[in-house]
Formats: sequence, C-alpha cells, structure tokens
Amino acid sequence: MRRMDREELIAYVRSHREAVLSTIGPDGSPQAAYLPITATDRGELVLDARASSRKVANVRRDPRVAVVVGGADGTTLQCEGTADLPDGADRDACARAYLDAFPQFTPSLADPDIVLVRIRLTWARYGDYRPGASSSQDVDLGVPIRRVRPDDWRAARALRLEALQDEAAGIAFLETYERASTEPDAFYQGRTARASDGDDVAQFVAVDGSTWVGSVTVIVQRAGSLDYHGHPVERSRATVVGVYVRGEQRGSGLIDRLLEETAQWARDLGFDELTLGVHAENARAQGAYRRAGFVPSGVTFASSIGPELEMVRRL
Ligand SMILES: CC(C)(COP(=O)(O)OP(=O)(O)OC[C@H]1O[C@@H](n2cnc3c(N)ncnc32)[C@H](O)[C@@H]1OP(=O)(O)O)[C@@H](O)C(=O)NCCC(=O)NCCS
Repeated sequence: MRRMDREELIAYVRSHREAVLSTIGPDGSPQAAYLPITATDRGELVLDARASSRKVANVRRDPRVAVVVGGADGTTLQCEGTADLPDGADRDACARAYLDAFPQFTPSLADPDIVLVRIRLTWARYGDYRPGASSSQDVDLGVPIRRVRPDDWRAARALRLEALQDEAAGIAFLETYERASTEPDAFYQGRTARASDGDDVAQFVAVDGSTWVGSVTVIVQRAGSLDYHGHPVERSRATVVGVYVRGEQRGSGLIDRLLEETAQWARDLGFDELTLGVHAENARAQGAYRRAGFVPSGVTFASSIGPELEMVRRL
C-alpha cells in the first residue's frame, strides 16, 4: 500500500469527521471522549470543548494526546500528537477550518465557555481492515512537495523575493533583490510556466497549508551550451539552483526531501549526476548538501558573488 501523505490525511479527517480522543488524567490514567473533529490546511486536528471539561484540564496539564479517527467503515487513522488551545491568528485558522466542517457550531464557538483545541501530529498510521484488505502504514506527515504550476507565479515571485532578502542572500544567489523586484510580471509568469512542465527545468516547492516554505530548482545544461556563469558545458548535466528553505523549516529535514525530488527528476531523465555551485563561505548550505550525498568535485571558480566550489552527487 502506498504511504498516505499529509494531504490525504487531511482529506480523510475531513470526510470522516468523528474521532475518539484520549487525554491523560490528573493521576496519569487515560481518559477518552468521542467527538466531532476536522483538520486545518496544515494537517492539524481541531475540535471544540467546554473550557471546564476534563479534556481541556488534561491538555493544559499534559498536552500529549492520542486520537483515532474513523473506524465505522473499516478504515482508521490512529494519531498521536500535542494539543494546545490556540489564540490570535492560529485560533482564527482553526475556527475557519472547524466552521467549514461544522457550520452548525457557529453559535457555540461564540460562547466564551467553548474553546478550540488544536492537535499537532507527531505520528499517524492509516489502517484498512475492510473485507479483503488488512494493512496499515505510517503516514508521511512532512510538508507536501510538488512541482510548480503555471498559475503559481505570484507565490513563486514572493518566495524568490523573500529569499533574495535573506541574510545569506549575498553568498547564496546570483540574482539580486534590486534586480528581481523590478522584473515585470511576464518574467515570473514565463519562468514559472517553464519550470512547471517539460524536461529543461523543474521547480519543486514545499507548501505548508497555503504558505510556501521552500523551493529548489533543477535545470538541464546541455553539452555545447553556456551555463548560467557563462562557462561552456562539456557534458550534459542536471544542476540544482535557487535553493531556499524558510527560517522556520530550517533544520527540519525539508531540504533533504526537496533535493531528493530534484535527484529523482534528473534520474528519470537519465542523468547519473546532479551538480551545483555553492559559495566557499556558505557553510550551512555545504553542510546540507554533504548530508544529501553531494561531495566537492575539486572544481572551484569565481562567480559574480565570489569564490564558489562545485559539488556533485552520483545518482
Ligand atoms: C541552505 C539551506 C537550504 C539549508 O537548509 P537547512 O534546513 O538550513 O539545512 P540543515 O540545517 O538541515 O543542514 C545544515 C547542515 O550544515 C550544518 N551547519 C549549519 N550551520 C553551519 C555553519 N555555520 N557552519 C558549518 N556547518 C553548519 C548543520 O549542522 C547541518 O549539518 P548536519 O546535518 O551534518 O549537522 C537553508 O539554510 C537556506 O535556505 N539558506 C539560505 C539560502 C541559501 O544559502 N541557499 C543555498 C544557496 S547555494
């Protein structure tokens, strides 16, 4: 059975709509309750409860919870995670998701004695025990990664302009913010459309709910052409460029998954090597590339941002 991913988990919770929630009582014993439940676009579970209820007292004291969604149709989603009572914009996002699923609870959410409980999942397992099937699989809870679509150009531009203002931008990107921010819409429309389809360039993005949190682009450089530094390309190769992960996702392993997408794309096109250029002083990026299997090729060169080294990963 293929692994369920976060998008599929969201769809499952939204269609099944009911769950058993287990919290930890004051003496450490489990306490369970059956209740309506839904999911936000980021894959958090949301339910409402009386502020004076046992479950709310329990999660205030110990946020660890276990939840089982579904069951009646022979499929289940077992989950574990951490609960909190969000406020501000986080509560608004949870309230939107909850009222989308259960508009009939609009009056109760306005009651000050009712609170929203959000559960951030650390583990989930989907089980299918319908006649003829008997299987279970851990769910992939990582931020979903996909290739860009042509109509993504506004979001692609926004993430690119954010990246170009990063404190590492001066040793990370050949393009400058000053230049990129004055490019016309057609520039980003064309760039995003080219990266969305075909075998010349592909941009992969990580989208957390509706927030873009990372991007990596892979381009094919054909023998006989000039690369983006103006150097002649001797052997056709696939090269990684435009690597960026937002601050809140750094150190999360997202960069490994993004780089893996580019490796798979290049492999599928028949390439046996993935290359990239990285500034000699960009130690963090070099560390991430090493962990992903890149090694220095021994080639060094000077680009418009200074000394760079080439790194290569065998596919
Ligand atoms: C480069 C980038 C995508 C890496 O993603 P990340 O999530 O930050 O990377 P990670 O934290 O998972 O990995 C960095 C590695 O370098 C190490 N590292 C971090 N800071 C370091 C430093 N100052 N010196 C040396 N090593 C460092 C980390 O320990 C880790 O290695 P480890 O897994 O062996 O411990 C991200 O930092 C980013 O977007 N930076 C700004 C843009 C950029 O530089 N892009 C690359 C252009 S080539």
